[in-house]
Amino acid sequence: MEKILTRDLANPQGHTLDAYLARGGYEALKKALAMPAAEIIDEVKKSNLRGAGGAGFPTGMKWSFIPKETTKPVYLVINADEGEPGTFKDRVILERIPHAMIEGAIIAMHAIRAKRCYVYVRGELVHAIRQLEHAIGEARAKGFLGKNVLGSGEDFEIHVHRGAGAYICGEETALLESLEGKQGKPRNKPPFPAIIGAWGAPTIVNNVETIAWVPTILTRGAAWFAGASNGTPRSGGMKLYAVSGHVKRPGVYELPMGVNLKDVIYEHCGGMLGDRKLKAVIPGGLSAAPLAADECDVKLEFDALQAKGSMLGSAGIMVIAEGTCMVNVHMRLVQFFAHESCGQCTPCREGTTWAFRTLKKIEQGEGTQAELDLLLDICRGMSGNTICVLSDSVALPSPVYMRKWADEYKAHVEKGCPFPAPWGGLGPFAAARH
Ligand SMILES: Cc1cc2nc3c(=O)[nH]c(=O)nc-3n(C[C@H](O)[C@H](O)[C@H](O)COP(=O)(O)O)c2cc1C
Ligand code: SF4
Repeated sequence: MEKILTRDLANPQGHTLDAYLARGGYEALKKALAMPAAEIIDEVKKSNLRGAGGAGFPTGMKWSFIPKETTKPVYLVINADEGEPGTFKDRVILERIPHAMIEGAIIAMHAIRAKRCYVYVRGELVHAIRQLEHAIGEARAKGFLGKNVLGSGEDFEIHVHRGAGAYICGEETALLESLEGKQGKPRNKPPFPAIIGAWGAPTIVNNVETIAWVPTILTRGAAWFAGASNGTPRSGGMKLYAVSGHVKRPGVYELPMGVNLKDVIYEHCGGMLGDRKLKAVIPGGLSAAPLAADECDVKLEFDALQAKGSMLGSAGIMVIAEGTCMVNVHMRLVQFFAHESCGQCTPCREGTTWAFRTLKKIEQGEGTQAELDLLLDICRGMSGNTICVLSDSVALPSPVYMRKWADEYKAHVEKGCPFPAPWGGLGPFAAARH
């Protein structure tokens, strides 16, 4: 199967400008600079490119929300925070193919009439930041950034901003607050960033992968991109899937949007670790509701997963084998979100912590049936009442775990965890379970 974004991953010099130019890099930019902005937005709309950051919002439509008559500066902000557990595709782009994102960013700036782009990168990604800064320097030296880019009369600049490692700073409005030097706490919406974003100016926030696909859309055409998916009329193109957990070959896979989940596990990833039976898959980062093994014959795309009560989200696919304690998996995810809640909203601040404490008791065999009911009640109060959807990341999947693996919760409150170490919890990936 042809690889586009990841075709140079085996080349140790694949991140350099020379390697990128050798494979036709920056040709899309030359084409884009000769096109009116509206025409580029139209191409991106027709390509069915959808945001890879989690919500899957149509990218071309988002770009068209920038007010046409604005007198303020317009900004492009690229979300490289990548804090969703199980998600590690953006890091690969930044470290190994940064020029794809840089070229996409310049095209996007031209399309939305921005001159400045800020890339907000998770601070721990030290190597990614170095690679990106080096690549930006190479692009500037070659005239792709700076004043009068390629004689177009337009000026474009890209700045790298390091985050301090808070998951909530991946939420676009918390990211903007953090970029402005404030505490990273989500804003009430509306207004959305396209109207009032960074420093009060119209701003498009897009994920790294979303932007990295833009040059391909311009070189191959919107129709090609839309048709490259595996029969998914509302979501175009190829997609990077980050696969982790109990598979033989975890990693980042570039595959058509809508590839079958079972094919990813058994063909591309070489099957289950230790040839154990599949128990569950979390298909879109830790916030996504889990699929049981008999639900995994499904297309990995936004609509098909939504129809199964889950989501593609950030396409971080966590594969879980039989023998794993689902109560433990559930407890760990709630612990993560409780730790990362920014604390602005009472249902989230109190609810995530309360849910974690309750689940911990249950997981350790000290809970009761009444506490299982309480847990569901806590979740009911947490959904739809908060500024951002972090609260829903606990409220929505929790009842799904409790319904699909009800026998395990019952066993925990009656006689304790039925799964022996080392395969309880997340198995070999979690040495200390309790
Ligand atoms: C709690 C939370 C964390 C998020 N973390 C990320 C992230 O790390 N990276 C990302 O691109 N989007 C993240 N998002 C989604 C962003 O808010 C936003 O939708 C996205 O960056 C838009 O880009 P896209 O349209 O290209 O997907 C997060 C959302 C929430 C609610
Ligand atoms: S839902 Fe949670 S993380 Fe989001 S703004 Fe409210 S308290 Fe903060």
